Amino acid sequence: MKKDKVVLAYSGGLDTSVAIKWLAKKGYQVIAYMADVGQEADFSAYEKRALKTGALKVIIDDLKKEFVDDFVFKSLKAGAIYEGGYLLATALSRPLIAKGLVKAAHKERAGFVAHGCTGKGNDQVRFEITIGALDPKLKVLAPAREWNLKTRQDEIRYAKKNKIPIDATKKRPHSIDVNLWGISIESGKLEDPYYAPDEDIYQITKGVNKAAAKPAYVTIEFKNGIPVKLNGKAAAGAALISKLAKIAGDAGVGRSDMMENRLVGIKSREIYEAPAGWALYTAHKALEGLVLDRELSHFKDAVALKYAELVYYGLWYTPLKEALDKFVDETQKYVNGTVKLKLHKGNCVAVGRKSPDSLYKKELATYEKGDKFDQSLAKGFIELWGLPYKGK
Ligand code: ARG
Repeated sequence: MKKDKVVLAYSGGLDTSVAIKWLAKKGYQVIAYMADVGQEADFSAYEKRALKTGALKVIIDDLKKEFVDDFVFKSLKAGAIYEGGYLLATALSRPLIAKGLVKAAHKERAGFVAHGCTGKGNDQVRFEITIGALDPKLKVLAPAREWNLKTRQDEIRYAKKNKIPIDATKKRPHSIDVNLWGISIESGKLEDPYYAPDEDIYQITKGVNKAAAKPAYVTIEFKNGIPVKLNGKAAAGAALISKLAKIAGDAGVGRSDMMENRLVGIKSREIYEAPAGWALYTAHKALEGLVLDRELSHFKDAVALKYAELVYYGLWYTPLKEALDKFVDETQKYVNGTVKLKLHKGNCVAVGRKSPDSLYKKELATYEKGDKFDQSLAKGFIELWGLPYKGK
């Protein structure tokens, strides 16, 4: 094992480009690791940039399928949403990228891994918890927590001085993280919680004014809680998500604007876009409404809350999260069927659902002819159910 070799999680942006140089100057041999989680970056341009900046080698790892199958769909099945608005796109990608980083370090016989996160965010925690869980012997370097570059302007100056190729002229007003499940936007003007963002902050969803005038109807078929068909056509996970993202985004579905409680104790303003995520979440929940019994359904809602916290907190590779996956999978045996969604001007509503595992019995629910519900039983039921409260 070479002690001075480090595999750095590299995005191609300013922070991690500066990190390459900073590590190289400290005497490390830097290998840049780029994970493809559907961010549609120009990987070959970034590869050149990394090499020019001083990386010895660049690894590009296509993780899209694994991201969808082993992270995104698990979270969907669990119904995980953080604080009512965040479908966890960034949070879900971190343990996977960290896992890729660890694998790359083993292959390259590197003793160190590194990331470009600052000391204020959640991502540093997610990376390091995962690295520690998968290989506690690997040492982690976090240049952005150590260097003396306080602002983006400082970083640009450092880049210029050190001849790091960057798009310094391009103003980047926000910090943006992209993957195929969604987009996270923070900082810049958003740091004022009362500031209403301009429309152009949104990348993949249309505003109500620009959204299609007519509603879009889509059908989504699920098998064991996983979406397998869109509008009657079979589609693999990543392809289904990107097709649906386009339809839902054009209808203005999938935005959230929230104050969020970070792991490190601060509140921050966050804007999210997850058009496919919201559509799938809505459809999945609607199907569960048809097939899960009351007690299972209510209990699962509590699990969803916990699951979202675990993802957000970086606790993916932990016994509780793995146990909850087993519980969730047990519930998803019944989640088979098709949901019809209406997407219109920012609204996403399930307007129809059907399933071979439906628990709905029309002959019991009906107020029309054919009613099989014995109403005379209700009297005794209420008598006993209300017994403890008589005279209260
Ligand atoms: N606040 C979100 C989270 O903690 C998004 C983080 C986005 N990261 C970024 N580098 N812009 O999951």
